[in-house]
Amino acid sequence: MDKFLITGGRPLHGRIVVSGAKNAALPALAASLLTDQRVILRNIPRVRDLSTMRSLLEDLGVDSSVTHETHGNRVEIEARQLLNPVAPYELVKQMRASVLVLGPLVARFGKARVSLPGGCAIGVRPINLHLKGLEKLGASIKFDHGYVDVKADGLKGTDFYFDTISVTGTENLMMAATLAEGVTVLENAAREPEVQDLANLLNKMGADIEGAGTPRIRIRGRSKLQGAEHSIIPDRIEAGTFLAAGAITAGELVVDRCIPEHLTSVLADLEMCGVKVVGGPGGPQTLTVKAGSTLQALDVTTQEYPGFPTDMQAQFMTLMTQAEGSSVITETIFENRFMHALELARMGADITVNGRRAVVRGPTLLSGAKIQASDLRASASLVLAGLAAEGDTIIDRVYHIDRGYERIEEKLTQVGARIVRISESD
Ligand code: EPU
Repeated sequence: MDKFLITGGRPLHGRIVVSGAKNAALPALAASLLTDQRVILRNIPRVRDLSTMRSLLEDLGVDSSVTHETHGNRVEIEARQLLNPVAPYELVKQMRASVLVLGPLVARFGKARVSLPGGCAIGVRPINLHLKGLEKLGASIKFDHGYVDVKADGLKGTDFYFDTISVTGTENLMMAATLAEGVTVLENAAREPEVQDLANLLNKMGADIEGAGTPRIRIRGRSKLQGAEHSIIPDRIEAGTFLAAGAITAGELVVDRCIPEHLTSVLADLEMCGVKVVGGPGGPQTLTVKAGSTLQALDVTTQEYPGFPTDMQAQFMTLMTQAEGSSVITETIFENRFMHALELARMGADITVNGRRAVVRGPTLLSGAKIQASDLRASASLVLAGLAAEGDTIIDRVYHIDRGYERIEEKLTQVGARIVRISESD
């Protein structure tokens, strides 16, 4: 298992480039199953979850090819036929987003057999709403030896209300509804930019979707979809992580190729903590974070978009260890997403966790230590802690970070960080 060795205390300076959004690229790959024509996706991040999704498509009998481009990968997929409608346990347990093939498979081929994902490091994360929605669209659902078998003889448009807002749930049902007969209305739908990006791709493929990005999405079904070419939006969470890295090291970092509107809540909270982030230089897709006055503590509650993202909670907690005062961080989306707190405490942070609430008292001097990553965003928060800490930090199990951050150690090295990957073979 690879590790990172980080020698902290160096301010970051320079330009860092944001990759394509993992959580937009994953449903985009799944959406290619909705047509027998060629779908070309660009700005696909070179991260492990995307390789896992390609392996899953391969298991289903669909080939894809990859070309390196200056910004991300170009992936071409032509799902002419389906050999095996199964998302096996081995892949689903590696990556829950595998369930995104469910909607497209049922809509186009009338069947899917997907391993139930089970619990996950950050919470229970059931898929009951994905299944309820598919059932409402006319599919039959059967549980069998840890798998769910979903069958349909043509889906029919329906109205579906999400009693909990779900990002991949919205994506799964939106994809399924593009090939259903008649109109589907999804109420209390997720509004994340990744949902909007998927709708943009589907509309290019000939779907008729209105309202993506609002809580009410209306989809008029089509009998067939066609091929399309689409470039994935930048990763707002990677961009937010880099802004936090600039702030915590008191550097001056230009975060390039991001969409500032997707970061509204993060930018507002950074500003309230005293972090200076300005637009530019050189275009609307660039932000610069500058070392400013002392960081001030701020209370933050995670919410669905456009609220403060749960995927930035861990990174924000690390930042708060360096702020004056007490910060109360409330996690409302996942019930077990504070595992980084204990590792941060091992580095000297003063954090008390009580259920879904964590109180961070700062500022505290962080000192380098041997720590362990537990999930993707937790790993990012530990990298930030390592950058800010005195001395050397060794982070174990960085395979978690490789799932969703493209070459993070190389990107950070280019802006002055001392971070090296230690491979098992070294
Ligand atoms: N939920 C249900 N039933 C369902 C679906 C969800 O109760 O059928 C609950 C979940 O247990 C959770 C809440 O609804 O408490 C929200 O979960 P959601 O379904 O929105 O999460 P997700 O779609 O599984 C995506 C991202 C996550 C991100 C969350 C929240 C992808 C591939 N994953 O997950 O990303 O944290 O939305 O924004 O889009 C990450 O990138 O590190 C990551 C975990």
